[in-house]
Amino acid sequence: MTIGVAVIGAGMAGKAHAAAYRTAPTLYSPTLPDVRCVAIGDINAELGAETAARYGFERSVTDWREIAADPAIDAVSVVVANSLHLEIVRGLLEAGKHVLCEKPLSDTIESAREMARLAEESDAIARIGLTYTRQPGLAAIKQWIEDGTLGRVRHISAHYWCDYSCSPKAPMSWRYRGPMGSGALGDIGSHLTYLSEFLCGPMRSVSGGTFKTVIAERPLPLGAVVGHGHGAVSDTYEPVTNDDYASFTADFDGCAGAIEVSRVAAGYPNGLSIEVFCENGAAGFHQDRPSQVRLYLNDDRPGTNGYRTVNLGSDHPYLAGGMAMDVSGVGFGQNEGFVFQARAFLEEIAGIDESASLPRNATFADGIHNMEILAAVAESAANEGRKVTL
Ligand SMILES: NC(=O)c1ccc[n+]([C@@H]2O[C@H](COP(=O)([O-])OP(=O)(O)OC[C@H]3O[C@@H](n4cnc5c(N)ncnc54)[C@H](O)[C@@H]3O)[C@@H](O)[C@H]2O)c1
Repeated sequence: MTIGVAVIGAGMAGKAHAAAYRTAPTLYSPTLPDVRCVAIGDINAELGAETAARYGFERSVTDWREIAADPAIDAVSVVVANSLHLEIVRGLLEAGKHVLCEKPLSDTIESAREMARLAEESDAIARIGLTYTRQPGLAAIKQWIEDGTLGRVRHISAHYWCDYSCSPKAPMSWRYRGPMGSGALGDIGSHLTYLSEFLCGPMRSVSGGTFKTVIAERPLPLGAVVGHGHGAVSDTYEPVTNDDYASFTADFDGCAGAIEVSRVAAGYPNGLSIEVFCENGAAGFHQDRPSQVRLYLNDDRPGTNGYRTVNLGSDHPYLAGGMAMDVSGVGFGQNEGFVFQARAFLEEIAGIDESASLPRNATFADGIHNMEILAAVAESAANEGRKVTL
């Protein structure tokens, strides 16, 4: 068996998917079938060709339909602007391709529901890339919650502070278009809400939804914009229609939460930070050090008790046996998360039993639920912060 793979979108996250397919077979013992890196698709021909050459894909195409039509391709990552997900995923599922679509599932809840309907009707595997559960620190905290080391979460404080929109000269792109809730909340809040439920269980309601656009207009770019990249801009400005900042409080069974996202947090390029306060102690994670956790246990010796720093290693999820250099302290970064995600996708396609695989990727149904939370925050914000039940 050979699994032919392709990536549509060669921008910031598309390259992470391309690199991940190259590396995924090298994790753990070689249980995966051959993975053939067939094509990169991007309307930007130069970027597509460069990405294909860089990550060892056989060719690049400018029309994703060529990928849908290619019988050598079995599995495709969709890594383009959210408003393009529905059209491309529809074409791929209709062609029988397995799909790994980036988050949030789509730009509107209606189109996300249509994607889930298409996935339900298809025999293909359809998954969504909510990568962060594979950060060893977050996976370890989850394990300690479940095995009673920490016990149930009573209070979660989570923020994702980024600075990619700080400069008023950062060019207009798809990220700044769309309704309130599709800005910082959709882009990085989708991760944070998913992680909050990963650790605390189902969210029951949201309150106090707050949005703010702090930079009201942005200049049109003079060339292609990739990811959070800057570049030459024109004198023509267009309005930013979505949120630079969003916050809300969340209610879970037996647990309260405060969640805040920002794309104008100067000095924080990728500041995902989560603190959980639990029955038996507390733990803190920061994306700067994804294989490190701050841990506090109530029952430690009085007088010397306090937060300790745990450097995660071969006793912890995702590290043991997976990394090329398989020892404590080698570190782990965001790119590795994409590799483990790709591995899980390929294991499922190969028919490897779940018990012998990494945890499966989230489903499109999970992606809809994730968007329902974002929509509830938008509804709360539109109604002076009132409580919205999920
Ligand atoms: N999981 C994560 O950590 C993570 C991180 C960043 C982005 N994302 C998600 O990945 C997706 C893409 O984000 P990005 O930052 O990589 O965007 P990007 O703007 O950097 O890249 C998008 C690419 O799509 C290409 N493109 C546009 N229209 C196309 C079409 N019709 N066919 C093929 N290619 C087309 C563009 O030329 C561009 O290269 C979004 O859904 C985003 O939310 C996820």
